[in-house]
Amino acid sequence: MKLRGNKTLKGETNVPGDKSISHRGIILGAISNGVTRINNCLISQDTMSTINVLMQLGVDITVDKKNNTVTINGVGQDGLIGTNEDLYCGNSGTTMRLLAGVLCGGKFSSTLTGDESLSKRPMKRITTPLRDMGADISDKDGHPPIRINPGSINSINYKMEVSSAQVKSAILFASLYSKGKSSIIEQHQTRNHTELMLKYFGADIHTNDHRIEINNPNVLVGRDINVPGDISSAAFLIAAALITEDSDITITQVGLNSSRTGIISVLHEMGAIITIEDLDESNVEKSGTLNVMQSYLKGITISGEKTVSVIDEIPILAVLGCFAEGDTIIRDASELRVKESDRLLAIYEGLTLMGGDIELLQDGLIIHGGKKLKGASVSSKGDHRIAMALSIAALAAEGTTVIDDIDCISVSFPNFYNDIGQLIDNSFEISI
Ligand code: S3P
Repeated sequence: MKLRGNKTLKGETNVPGDKSISHRGIILGAISNGVTRINNCLISQDTMSTINVLMQLGVDITVDKKNNTVTINGVGQDGLIGTNEDLYCGNSGTTMRLLAGVLCGGKFSSTLTGDESLSKRPMKRITTPLRDMGADISDKDGHPPIRINPGSINSINYKMEVSSAQVKSAILFASLYSKGKSSIIEQHQTRNHTELMLKYFGADIHTNDHRIEINNPNVLVGRDINVPGDISSAAFLIAAALITEDSDITITQVGLNSSRTGIISVLHEMGAIITIEDLDESNVEKSGTLNVMQSYLKGITISGEKTVSVIDEIPILAVLGCFAEGDTIIRDASELRVKESDRLLAIYEGLTLMGGDIELLQDGLIIHGGKKLKGASVSSKGDHRIAMALSIAALAAEGTTVIDDIDCISVSFPNFYNDIGQLIDNSFEISI
């Protein structure tokens, strides 16, 4: 992929459905009673991994790619049917970790596998608490494949060791197969889509500050879900508008769940001109329209709870740091080392090749802003968020950038280049 920089973005667009909410809708739809219809569902490589695994387990799912709707005939909590085949989760950590929670309650054995990247990702964070709940679950030296045999699941009181919505969700899903009250205490709040959707499907679940309580058993009933646009995908378009000359864009129907809007707060703190309009609170998940204009940005420090709140936006924040005045310091971000790639290293390497002045720390980055970026030959490391972050850097850099392996973008934002191309006011040259 070749991208020539120095562009202006104008106009209105929207982004594909939220990945986290789509995964949860598909999974809960499958184990509920009755039909679940998901509107504006993200249909991407990752969500197709979840759909394919559930179809292997006997769930009838119809995917309408043209209209982005997915219809699921729920089989109920005990209706999944075992298979001898491996359950392949592709590149998707969310598929593997959330389904592991569900499969602990199965009356059959299953094996969850993944691609090269997923096979290197840490799984003890789920196998340990799930085993504490009585599950017969094992990993391979802390990594996939995950093997699950039938077991009997007990409730749990669990204090989260890592701030991870995937771990929290795996425990909540496993708890559906237990009796009595389970509780989870988070150190830092992570995205709460599972809690909201469980409630919407009829579960007796309550949250108070950083404590979540669920009373089981529950009877889950299929529902219609309207998925808002993914704020983590919108972040790339927002960033593009912030750092390109004279840009002014509008993104409609973006998810504005407060456990995900950390990126807007952080950008406001950096001086970004972003306004929110048309707030819609009529669905389980809030949404609204974002207006974004080219802005003068200044460096800030992102650490602790703030880092957790922008966990998927760190690569694009690193790009913005290069265009900000002063230093942008990112700490407490060692989780990025075990995402689809080592994201700290990948973005450090890519932006450094483009002329950025960056220090790589064990748990973060220090970006010395203000150095002009120039085109270079860079690698996505097969990671969708790195590929998109480097593409946005290329858009605002001088000269031509060549990015290898951009197919991975289909994990979360299949029409990324097309959607951004439509906002570009002056000849954005993309060639593949
Ligand atoms: C996700 C949770 C986060 C996030 C990932 C999606 C989810 O991962 O990075 O993209 O849908 O629950 P962790 O739970 O590992 O922090």
